[in-house]
Order: sequence, then structure tokens, then C-alpha cells
Amino acid sequence: MSAPENSPNLYIEKVSLTTDEVLPGEVAPEELLVTHYRDYHVVDTYARSLMSWLVRSTGDEEKARGIMRKVREFGRSTSNVLAKALGKDPDALSKTLFGLKKRDYYFRFKKHLYSAEEIASRVQQLKKEAVAQARGKKMRVFLTGGTGFVGKEIMYQAAAIPEIEQMVVLIRPKTVRHRLTGEVISHQTVEERGAELLKELWLEGNPKYRFIDGDIEKPQMGIAAETLDEMSRSITHVIHCAASVAFDDPYPDSFSANVTGSCNALQFSLNLQQAERSPFVAHVSVETSYIHGKQVRQQAREDEVVFPRNFYNNYYELTKAMASLETERFMLEHGLRVVQLCPAIVIGDARTGNNRGDQKVVNAPVNSWGRARKFLKESQGDWVRRSQAEVLFAMAKIFPGDPSAELNLIPVDWVARGIVNATLHPECIGERIHLATDNRITAERMMKVIRRELRVSVRLSEPNLNRKLHAPLMTTVLTGLKQKKVAHALGKLGSIFSGYSEWGQPVHQVGNDVDLLHLPLPRPNTEHAFCMLCRHNKHVQDFGTIKDPLELSRREKLWLEFIEEIEAETGQPAALMHSKEFFRRFTEAFDRDSFTRLKPAALPAG
Ligand SMILES: NC(=O)c1ccc[n+]([C@@H]2O[C@H](COP(=O)([O-])OP(=O)(O)OC[C@H]3O[C@@H](n4cnc5c(N)ncnc54)[C@H](OP(=O)(O)O)[C@@H]3O)[C@@H](O)[C@H]2O)c1
Repeated sequence: MSAPENSPNLYIEKVSLTTDEVLPGEVAPEELLVTHYRDYHVVDTYARSLMSWLVRSTGDEEKARGIMRKVREFGRSTSNVLAKALGKDPDALSKTLFGLKKRDYYFRFKKHLYSAEEIASRVQQLKKEAVAQARGKKMRVFLTGGTGFVGKEIMYQAAAIPEIEQMVVLIRPKTVRHRLTGEVISHQTVEERGAELLKELWLEGNPKYRFIDGDIEKPQMGIAAETLDEMSRSITHVIHCAASVAFDDPYPDSFSANVTGSCNALQFSLNLQQAERSPFVAHVSVETSYIHGKQVRQQAREDEVVFPRNFYNNYYELTKAMASLETERFMLEHGLRVVQLCPAIVIGDARTGNNRGDQKVVNAPVNSWGRARKFLKESQGDWVRRSQAEVLFAMAKIFPGDPSAELNLIPVDWVARGIVNATLHPECIGERIHLATDNRITAERMMKVIRRELRVSVRLSEPNLNRKLHAPLMTTVLTGLKQKKVAHALGKLGSIFSGYSEWGQPVHQVGNDVDLLHLPLPRPNTEHAFCMLCRHNKHVQDFGTIKDPLELSRREKLWLEFIEEIEAETGQPAALMHSKEFFRRFTEAFDRDSFTRLKPAALPAG
């Protein structure tokens, strides 16, 4: 039987730890995720808490690892002695008693056949070609993913770049159906979506933008033949930003959007590059710094991807890593001029927190805590409702996370600037560039900001313990209170997020962002950006309850003006203003229900 088209074996091989030989057979996608190796044994859970505590109290990670290694060796030798005495299998016994699993294989990415010298000379050649191609040309950029969080910011920033003459954006029509009946509730054509998008971005009627119908999962991205022909004579750059950023999608769905989608985009660019008299310069591939998965021992480097020692958190990360290998393959095998850009966890604008309605990743728990607190406040007076709200709030406040976990959050304006700069600087061809921070924030620090800004005291519970004890308890209690949906949502949130908030997060190397993309130093201050995320989500988004994109856009414009006024007056970032003073000014300046200005915006300086 032949392997399925989306088989991990295309990219990954299973290797014997003893013989270093490649083991035959299909690699199952689930074997590549961390969840496959965690059995949440109580001793294993306790050991993880101990490890985190040791790191925090000694500040010496290597020493803590050494102690844990000794504890594990002790566990194994105890199991061996007991197994001998009881006549049992030592491996099975050590798994039962201590949760210690023995694995006699590891995974690695399949190696391509090019030597380091061949790669270096290929990259030099492609850089030279790109510089020559770009000389004296106005840029006409093709973008996928323009309706998404990052894509919108790319479109917004491109408006102010004179070198970009035109931006052609691939969009699919949008049909919203009733969740239960399947009945069509609304349908938007590509033209309608495009026009609304420009309105949302305060770019209404801007002639720089054009929208075309397509779907990245289809061959040639589903673009009509005559449009393809015209594009081969006009497009200079392709920015492939569309993807499925769902952390809980099944493997086939993630593969289709992220690997097949990327291959279609790469093939599209290759066709442009190979077309006669083509003005094509480069393909910019938007990936993620989490293609390195749970890489805890060494820094995740910009110049290579190795299969992570501690596997991947989810199929999103895994399939984005496969897409990165495809990008490399197109460069090495076909000579496609590519740049790979790898953002960390993207959050709202560094100064304002503006995010055009994004509700993903960090926004999700922040919004759920804000909503739970609001529900509690609104339940005053009604005894039964109040009791329910109190239980719900108490449950929602316990979240899986290790206080010392360092999260790599990066504001969307920095990420989009990096992506746009990649089109402006052809010398970055052939490179993989992390768009990440050098000032990571710990989970503990984030909880302090949340306490200060949202007045919610979140209690971090060790992720494995949370999964074993708190999550089932929460489900039982909330189900008893007829809050099954809330219980499900909170449980799902916890399990999705816990991989990013446990001890031992990867450290992503940075440097190419400044050296090659000419981004300015210092990099954005993560704590300030997270503070503004909290303020924005509370006042502008009402913790995710304002969903209309045009209403959000109206609010974000007023919010930006308000922040600019504060900054002009104080000469400092608004994040540095004390939360009480910030709140006082906000309530003075805005009618909070209608989000309209009470005090007119100050006249611009000068
Ligand atoms: N957000 C993060 O924290 C983060 C972090 C690191 C890297 N990244 C990377 O940055 C890129 C953008 O992420 P994002 O946060 O902007 O994601 P997003 O908000 O979920 O947007 C995804 C975009 O992809 C489009 N898309 C998905 N499937 C498509 C298909 N089959 N055909 C055409 N378009 C399709 C969506 O179009 P519709 O509107 O039609 O659905 C949307 O425009 C992705 O490559 C992601 O991996 C994101």
C-alpha cells in the first residue's frame, strides 16, 4: 500500500537510537506531538513542578537538569531492583511506578542532498539575481491572507510605502451558515469583502489595491487562467501569508491549508519567475518561529530547522515546519528566490494594542477572564446568579501555566514591517528570519499585568496537574451549574494554551531582523505591548464581544488618536501611565457605552 499524500514520511524519518538506522514503516502524525509522550503520571507531574521550582530558586537551569537526571536514574534503578525481586518487566514497572517511558527511537527531518558550499553558492546567486531584478522597478505585490490578522496590517502598512505601486490580494468569498441547520445566513463576494476590508483599514477607495478570487488549497490557488497570464507580466513579489492558525485542527486539515497551500503558492511563484520577460523578484513565505517546536536545550537557530527533541505542541506547528522544508526545497531544487519569515506569537500593535478584532492565542484567555469578571459584576443583587458567577469566576481564574515560563510575544506592527521590508531588500533572499522578541515575558509577569489592568488574580497551576485535577473538577462543577458550554470552552482554552505556558519554552535566536530586514533597535518592549493589549481588549473590544469589523475599526481609530494625545502630552509610551490614571483619562474622554468622544480630540501639536 502506498503512503498517503500527506504522510509525515515525506519529511520525517524514525531512527533507531541504538543502531542509528532508519526504521521502516509509516510515521503516524500523532507520534510527532508532545501529547503522545506525556502520560500525566502523578510522579512525572510532580517532577515537572519540582524542576520549575528548582529553576526559579537556583536560577541555574543546568544544575536543575542535573538533579532531575539523578532523580530519574534513581527511579530506573529502583524499578530494576523491584522488577528483579518481583519477576516483572523492568520497563513496564518503571512506567507504572514513576511514569518513566523508555523510547528506543528518535525522529529527524530528512536531509536534502546539497552540501553547505552548494547551498551558500546557490543563495549568493539568487541574491544577485534578485538585486538585479529589483533594480529600478516599481513593486507590484501579490498577497495571500489579506483578510487575516497579520495580512491586514501588511495591507495597512503597504499603503504608506511609495515603492509599492500595486497590491493584488487573493481572497475567497465568504459564506456564513447556521451552525445547526446549515442554512446560509450571509454571503459576501470577493468584491464585497475587498471593499469592506479597505473601509476597515481606513483605506476606502485606495486605487493601490485589487482583489482576486482564489483559494490556496487549489492548484494555481484557484486563480483564473487569464488572470495568471496577466500576473506573470506584472507581479514582482509574492507574500504568502494565508494559513490555518488553528491549534486544534486535525492533521489532514492543517496539512491541506499549511503544506498543500504553501506548495501551491510556491509553484505559483515559480511559474511567475520562469515566465518570459517576467518582472518577478521574490517569494516571501510567512512561517512561524514555532517550526522549531519544543526545542528546550538549545537556542532555536535562524539558519536551520532540526526536529525538536521535545516534539511539537500541535499540528499547526508541525505542518508549518513541513511548509518551511518545502520552501527550502523550492529554493534548492528549482532556484526559486525565497525569503522565510518566522514570527513568534503575534499580539496587537505595540503602542495601542489595536488588533482589528483578532481573538486568537493570547487574546483568548485574556478575554475570557475579562468576560468572567464582567459577568460577576453584572450579577450583583440576584443571589442565585451571583453565586453561579462567583463559581464561574473562581474556576476561570485557575489556568495552566508555570510562573517561570517565558513567552515570546511580538507585536503585529513589527511583524508586518519585517514582512514589508523583506520585499524592499532583495539581499535577504535565501535567509530564514525570526520576527521574535529579545525581551521575553514570564507567565508570572503577565499575570501581574492582568491583575493590575483587569483586576483579575489568575492562579497559575502546573499544566499537568491542571489537566489531571483542575480541568475535570471544573467540568463537573460547571456542568452541575448548567454551564457545559463555558466548561468546554475553558477546558479547550487551557489545553490549547498550556503547551505555550509550561516550563521550558524555546528561545528563538534573533538578529537577522535588524541585520537583513533593517528593522530598528530596540525591539518592541513586550511588557508594554502586553499592557496595551489588556487595555485595548477591555475598552475597545469589550473582551471580544464587539465583533462587527467596521465598528471595531471606528473604535480603534478613536483609540489611536487618544493614545497619541497621551503620548504627545507625557512624552512617554501610554503603557507607562499608571493604570488608574489611564482609566481616569479614558472615562473622561469617552462615553464608554457608545465609545464616542466626550472631549474632542486635542488639536495636533504645531
Ligand atoms: N497569529 C499568530 O500569532 C502567528 C504567529 C506566527 C506566525 N503566524 C503566521 O502568520 C500568517 C498569518 O496569520 P494570522 O494570524 O494573520 O492568521 P489568520 O488571522 O487566521 O488569517 C488567516 C488568513 O489566511 C486565509 N486563508 C486560510 N485558508 C485559506 C484558503 N484555503 N484560501 C485562501 N485564504 C485562506 C484566511 O482567509 P479567510 O478570511 O477567508 O478565512 C485569512 O486571510 C500565517 O502564515 C501564520 O502561520 C501567525
